[in-house]
Amino acid sequence: MAKTIIQMINIIKRYYIGQPNELQILNGISLDIHEGEFVSIVGASGSGKSTLMNMIGALDRPTEGEYFLDGTDISRLNDKQLSNIRNQKIGFVFQTFNLISRTNALKNVELPMMYAGVPRKERSRRAMELLELVGMKDRYTHQPNELSGGQKQRVAIARAMANDPAIILADEPTGALDTKTGHLVMNIFHKLHKQEGKTIVLITHSPELASETERIITISDGSVISDTLENTAENAGAENTEVSGE
Ligand SMILES: Nc1ncnc2c1ncn2[C@@H]1O[C@H](COP(=O)(O)OP(=O)(O)OP(=O)(O)O)[C@@H](O)[C@H]1O
Ligand SMILES: [Mg+2]
Repeated sequence: MAKTIIQMINIIKRYYIGQPNELQILNGISLDIHEGEFVSIVGASGSGKSTLMNMIGALDRPTEGEYFLDGTDISRLNDKQLSNIRNQKIGFVFQTFNLISRTNALKNVELPMMYAGVPRKERSRRAMELLELVGMKDRYTHQPNELSGGQKQRVAIARAMANDPAIILADEPTGALDTKTGHLVMNIFHKLHKQEGKTIVLITHSPELASETERIITISDGSVISDTLENTAENAGAENTEVSGE
């Protein structure tokens, strides 16, 4: 069994919006995700998916509970250490792409490497390689306003890969795209999973896209209400072939 890369133990998140009001958004979430898994998180609007993603991505700390990211106890880190581990381990993809405007695709992909101190030549080389991986090499001089939504998202995925993170976290990455373009973007995640061995956590409203992943975690009112394995190596293609008994 691959190592556990995300381990959450009884995570609680509350927001304080003026005493005595407090909102408990995550009600004790325990979760183990292994290296190389492709997991989707589904649930109604407001159920706490993005809040959970912020926890997984070390963008925010839980109110209670423990979170080990690749073995490191997040609650013990100061802000600087937290942002370091985040930059090393996690690549983020958002619904709204979040590319830097008036900055071409190549520079957008280079940016996280610049922050990480990768030398100029090396970061250009790697950024081109990543743009090629997502099928955007021929658009490297284009700025975000010269790209379609699907193209912007592909550049954003290349950027998420810049520092070779172990985990790609994507919050509704196809939410702003039409179905066909959404599938093209989804295929890139499959490629990163299969070819690059990335652990991928995808938040989606689409049951169809979720069913393409190996495991579906359903959140309701801040709790995990189901966690099911889908297309594992054992049952992939099970619709056509009998699963071997071995
Ligand atoms: N900073 C905050 N302060 C107070 N409440 C918040 C804050 N952030 C989120 N919430 C509340 O937490 C709940 C869960 O929000 P969250 O964004 O995690 O939902 P979601 O499942 O991602 O929904 P959607 O599918 O619409 O994106 C909502 O009721 C929201 O109002
Ligand atoms: Mg959300």
